[in-house]
Order: sequence, then C-alpha cells, then structure tokens
Amino acid sequence: MKSIVILISGRGSNMEAIVHACQREGWPARIAAVISNKADASGLQFAAAHGIATAVVDHKAFGSREAFDTELAQVIDGFQPDVVVLAGFMRILTEGFVRRYEGRLLNIHPSLLPAFPGLHTHQRAIEAGCKLAGATVHFVTPELDHGPIILQAAVPVRADDTADTLAARVLVQEHQIYPQAVRWLVDEQLSVHGGVVRHLDGRQQVCWSD
Ligand code: GRF
Repeated sequence: MKSIVILISGRGSNMEAIVHACQREGWPARIAAVISNKADASGLQFAAAHGIATAVVDHKAFGSREAFDTELAQVIDGFQPDVVVLAGFMRILTEGFVRRYEGRLLNIHPSLLPAFPGLHTHQRAIEAGCKLAGATVHFVTPELDHGPIILQAAVPVRADDTADTLAARVLVQEHQIYPQAVRWLVDEQLSVHGGVVRHLDGRQQVCWSD
C-alpha cells in the first residue's frame, strides 16, 4: 500500500477529486495526510471529515523559504510518502525541497505548459487570443511550473469567456487528469527520458473537451 501526501493552500477541489478516485477505484494507496500552509484552507475540513490526517505548517511563522521548507519536509516525511501531490499549493519551493522529492512530486498548473507559467493563466490566455486553454500535470523541477509533462487537458476558449468561466471549464478537466496522473505514478506506469514522460502501455496523455 503506497502512501500519498497532498499539499493544499485553499479549497482543495483537486485534492477532493484525488481522494474520491482513490476510494472509488480502490487504488493500492492511501491518502496519508493533507497538509496546508494556511490554517483556514477549507480543504482541511473535507480531509478531516474523511478521516485523513491533517497538518498546518504556516509559512508566516518562518523567517526564510529554507526554514519553512525544512519544517514542511519534516512533517511530510512523518507520513513516509511515495507520492507528494501539490494541489493548489501556493508556495514557491526551494531547490532542496524539490530535489528531496524528485520523481515523486507532482503539480497541476491551469494552463497548457509551457505557455503561461505563473499566475492569472486564464486571463492571460484570453488576452493572448488563445483558442485553446487547459491544464497540465507535471513532475516538479526547481524551475517554477516547468518539469516533465504527464498529462494535459485542452478546452476551447469561447468568445464570451471571462477568466472565471474559462477557469470553471478547465477545472472540470483538472479533476479528471490529476487523479489519473497520480494513479499512473502509484502504479509505476510512467517513464521519463530526456524530460519526456511516456505511459508504459502507450496510454493517451491528452484529454479533450468541448
Ligand atoms: C487549480 O486551478 C490548480 O490548477 C491551481 O490552483 C487551483 C487550485 O484549486 N494550481 P483547488 O484548491 O484544487 O480547488
């Protein structure tokens, strides 16, 4: 039975999707803990209500990124995770932290990377006149919102979209691809060569919706 630790900063809807998929599909894994850098992250309540251990490591209590990441890693390691999932975890992580979990640290980003790393992705996609937007699940590397791409979901950008309507359309897809990617990692179905991720059985690593 593998151990998964999920880090959140807010509502945690991706975390919920992963918890539900793990239960529904009977993964050979358990969600060992949900950890937040914010005590008021609403996702913590969902986790606790589902019998999942929760912890808070408040970044404001630390004088440096290094000090915060050191404490965060200590709390994470208490759950001996095989997989660490960033699900709306809004902190930039130090290289030391990322290297510690290399190959088992995943992130979801609400754009079709490498386009639009960083914040306000939906607004930027609309302003750039993109006809497609989406989300990307990737292995985390020290460079922000980079790293080998596991799965992407693409959705159309409609003429009347606002950042909110586009975000809502993308979020539906996030809830599909993130559990899928975590499951593949749990099942050891991924290989990485030269920064390119392949599913061992050649499963499609893109998801379309209209
Ligand atoms: C998602 O859009 C995710 O892609 C981004 O932050 C948002 C988190 O949403 N990194 P939630 O907390 O999972 O509901």
